[in-house]
Parts: sequence; C-alpha cells; structure tokens
Amino acid sequence: MEKALLYQRIIEQLIDLFKKSEDPIARMATACALLYHKMDYYFWCGFYLLKDNELIVGPYQGPLACLKLAHNKGVCWAGVREKKPVIVPDVHQFPDHIACDERSQSEIVVPVFTPDGQVYGVIDVDSDRLASFDETDARFLAQVADMIFRS
Ligand code: SME
Repeated sequence: MEKALLYQRIIEQLIDLFKKSEDPIARMATACALLYHKMDYYFWCGFYLLKDNELIVGPYQGPLACLKLAHNKGVCWAGVREKKPVIVPDVHQFPDHIACDERSQSEIVVPVFTPDGQVYGVIDVDSDRLASFDETDARFLAQVADMIFRS
C-alpha cells in the first residue's frame, strides 16, 4: 500500500486511541508501537526527550537503543536545534551520527513541541535500508508529533 495511505490510516487510529488518555508517555508508547508494526521499512521507532538539556530515550519499539545521546551530536540533536524534520538518506554520510545499532542505514527525526512551543523531544525513526524516508514521512510524523499534547 502507498506510504501516505498507510500513514493516513495510522493517524486515524491514533486519533481514536488518544481519546482514551492525554498522558504524553501513554500516547508516545502507543504511537511508536503502531507505527513500528505497520511500516515495514521501520527498523527502530521511538522518542528521545529533552530533560535538563540532555536527550534521554523515551518509549520505543525495536532493538535496544542508547539511553542518552551525547550532547549536541547526531541527528536527534540536529532536530532539536533546527526545530524541523531532519531526513538523513545515508547515516554514514552524516558527520556526527550516533550509531546505537550498526544496522541502521537511514533515519528521520521530527521535533515534538509542548503546547507553549518549547521542544519537548523528538520522534526518531531508523531504517536498515538506505534512503527510506522522504517528505511524506516528515509530513505525517509531524502530524503524530502534534497529536502528543493535543486534547
Ligand atoms: N542515530 C541517532 C541516535 C538514536 S538511534 O538512532 C536510536 C542520532 O544520531 O541522534
């Protein structure tokens, strides 16, 4: 099925599921479980959360990941700094990419904002294939990010 259609279905499911709880951890856990099991090119899917100027792993699905990311290095921190989606077609070409798992080949990071517009953390998705992510992933993952704090 076409990527956009799959995402559309996932968003519809999440709208329904998120009616059951406004808790951001419950919503993040639900979002990455659904995404990870529906998108076949996802190798890892989860959240890194900004706490005391550190990025700490949040809810995720997939292989074991880094608990904490070195300050201001890698793709997730780039998403925090730029406050917009970062698409990396080949992680080996990204200067200070942090490899939590050597099998990752491409990656996308999308910031999550609090209702007052502060960066709360990021959604991070890895693929074990090159160039898995494009503007469609960025657009729909930004929608998921927007839903974490929406009542
Ligand atoms: N590659 C990320 C680190 C997190 S893992 O991909 C799960 C980065 O460079 O920030």
